[in-house]
Amino acid sequence: MPVRAMLVLGTRPEAIKLAPVARAMATDTQFEPIVVTTGQHREMLHQMLGLLCVDVRIALDVMRSRQQLSELTARLVGELGEVMRDQRPDLVVVQGDTTTALAGALAAFYEKIPVAHVEAGLRTGVIDNPFPEELNRNLIGRIARWHFAPTPRAARHLTDEGVPAEQVFTTGNTVIDNLLWVLADGTGTSAFRTGAKRILVTLHRRENQGERMRGMGRALRRLVQRGDVEIVLPLHKSPAVRDVLLPELGGHEGISIVEPLDYLDFAATLAECDLVLTDSGGIQEEAPSLSKPALVLRTTTERPEAVEVGAARLIGTDPEAIVSCAERLLDDPAEYRRMADAGNPFGDGRAAERVLTQLAEDFAAEVPVGVTATGPYSTA
Ligand code: UD1
Ligand code: UDP
Repeated sequence: MPVRAMLVLGTRPEAIKLAPVARAMATDTQFEPIVVTTGQHREMLHQMLGLLCVDVRIALDVMRSRQQLSELTARLVGELGEVMRDQRPDLVVVQGDTTTALAGALAAFYEKIPVAHVEAGLRTGVIDNPFPEELNRNLIGRIARWHFAPTPRAARHLTDEGVPAEQVFTTGNTVIDNLLWVLADGTGTSAFRTGAKRILVTLHRRENQGERMRGMGRALRRLVQRGDVEIVLPLHKSPAVRDVLLPELGGHEGISIVEPLDYLDFAATLAECDLVLTDSGGIQEEAPSLSKPALVLRTTTERPEAVEVGAARLIGTDPEAIVSCAERLLDDPAEYRRMADAGNPFGDGRAAERVLTQLAEDFAAEVPVGVTATGPYSTA
């Protein structure tokens, strides 16, 4: 009998990062993947799934405009619990640190179904930054039976927190698997239009919304005033982001605000840019793979590996710092080359394969597959 693995995903980055696992399971007779989409995101999720060849079995529809985290969490736990009772999978796979991932893990725990956590062990050490993701990943870390850490540092965080070492596996990040898969296809279209210096910008984090994000908008306006810069900003669908950035940046020459790009077009746009300014998690991982220097517009990062190798810089949210760091990279070819050539610390594109190998081995073994990381290996 194949292992029935329920993959729960709800947002754009979860679709991107679980797609390699779903695709690999779909062609491996040892597994039956059951993909459940929660609809935490709507347009931004749906534009990914077909393109990334993810076959959805069950689609929930929990998104409400401007909904509160508590409402979203409650709806997700309730609806996912029902799906899990109905389907009785052998395990539930969640990815990262979204509310969907936390609710998926929690609902599985309540149903006594073991949880595999992909992209486990990322930590900033500041419980409310990023908000609420740092808490989410800590909580998932208490629930999961398998912890698939993207890097040795992430694995170390987990063992330092008391997760048994035999339940922690360093795999690389599945985002690299996906990026390589998509680039091999190579059919996306870049959103840049001119031959100017090209800056790709994305902003969405909750802790940046409001005044901080307005300041970032001002910094972007100053950068295009140089006259030799084109900025492409694929705008997140969140109304909290749009309320700030559209009045700040709309109608400014040199700044193209576009709708969220599908993954093929985003990968093509990233491949064509000179510089990335972002508060995104996933883009911090992708940029070094394409030799693009990334300036991280946040005060903390759970991905210090890119900063340590020199591929990214954590520059905070102050507009002055954003302008001066970006200008330095635009104007100093030696500094630019140092960052562009720093390399990618997030894996070799074989993360999903390692996840499947480990799961297949554990389900084939005599040892019962228990529910939690810290409890005994027993479902009793
Ligand atoms: C979520 C994740 C965040 C992740 C981000 C990826 C949580 C708490 N946050 O943040 O970790 O980095 O996704 O993008 O899980 N909306 C639409 N259409 C869409 C998507 C969103 O209209 O396709 C709007 C809705 O009004 C929604 C709002 O955006 O209520 C916010 O979405 P939500 O998923 O709550 O948070 P994000 O900020 O997207
Ligand atoms: N992305 C995309 N189109 C866009 C912007 C981002 O496909 O217009 C992809 C990007 O390649 C990355 C992921 O979305 O893999 C990052 O998602 P996001 O920034 O929303 O979330 P985070 O990674 O911060 O959780």
